[in-house]
Amino acid sequence: MKTFNFMVLPGDGVGPEVMKEALKILEALKEIGLLDFNCEEGLVGGASLNRTGLPISDKTMSLAKSADAILFGAVGDSRFDANAQNLKPEAAILRLRKELNLFANLRPIKVFDELLENSSLKPELLKGLDIMIVRELTGDLYFGEPRGVSKSDNGELVGINSMVYKESEIKRVALLGFEISKLRKNKLTSVDKANVLETMQLWRKVVNEVSLGFENVLLDHLYVDNAAMQLVKDPKQFDVILTGNLFGDILSDQASMLSGSIGMLPSASLNNRSNGLYEPIHGSAPDIANKDLVNPIAMIMSVAMMFRYTLKMENVAKNIELAVANVLAKEYATADIYKTGWKKIGTSEMGNKIRSELKKIC
Ligand code: IPM
Ligand code: MG
Repeated sequence: MKTFNFMVLPGDGVGPEVMKEALKILEALKEIGLLDFNCEEGLVGGASLNRTGLPISDKTMSLAKSADAILFGAVGDSRFDANAQNLKPEAAILRLRKELNLFANLRPIKVFDELLENSSLKPELLKGLDIMIVRELTGDLYFGEPRGVSKSDNGELVGINSMVYKESEIKRVALLGFEISKLRKNKLTSVDKANVLETMQLWRKVVNEVSLGFENVLLDHLYVDNAAMQLVKDPKQFDVILTGNLFGDILSDQASMLSGSIGMLPSASLNNRSNGLYEPIHGSAPDIANKDLVNPIAMIMSVAMMFRYTLKMENVAKNIELAVANVLAKEYATADIYKTGWKKIGTSEMGNKIRSELKKIC
């Protein structure tokens, strides 16, 4: 049996708590004999700034690069708000994404039947919802140059960020988006702002060109403002949403509310070698950190995505998802997804429940 090497980066706030539960799941799968692995743990974000003065050290970067997969908790700590951009906790995840070439971020949005009433939208708009957001992750305003704040000739401060996309960057993420569509409902919606931004006109042109190689996939284009509206008006019209880095960031937080809680949603960030990074889409949530309150499901479902996309063990991925579904069917909930009549449990007990369901299934 191959021994996998995982890099574990718990980070800030609730990151370490959700990571602990994810590792419980991995350990259980190891005990069952489904895989063998070693974990290397490293510091990222505020946790790393405190100890090393940097959001992520070169050593942690190189360990991450050589790992089979990376499990990432969350970064963000308001104590470093005044730091320069490259010394903020968030710089850790941005450096990992850039240097590992993790250009595609998959954010699946699904609703468990048990949680249909948790969303602020009507249940009938959500039942059966299954969207895959494919967010470009290494370009756009996040990385474009020039950037910064400087003084203009008249002494006034001016802030600049640049929306930059190369043709090749659009093409590779579009190709992946279409490949994913082929495995789903053959429908892809590309989201841009081509009515105003030249970069987005290029985006649309390249997506159209790529689509010629996928004649069975139905392609449509939406401007991002309209897409945001459609997402709450009739979310089931979407299957795959392909979009840039910034729009994907915003639309995926919005879409998370369709599932009832941002604490439910996992993500996978992939490069061409598929040794991905797996993280919940929620942040460090310092207000609920260290209180045994955070929902570990997003992190645990990120582990499921790791089995799907990096380890290529689809059965295990499905079993983890089923274990989560079974726990919800028994009406156990962390505070974020709690409803009257259900049993409210903490982070660690949620992890335990999912682990014992998983052991029953496997
Ligand atoms: C996300 C987060 C990050 C982003 C932050 C933490 C840099 O919001 O993964 O969605 O903006 O990409
Ligand atoms: Mg975000």
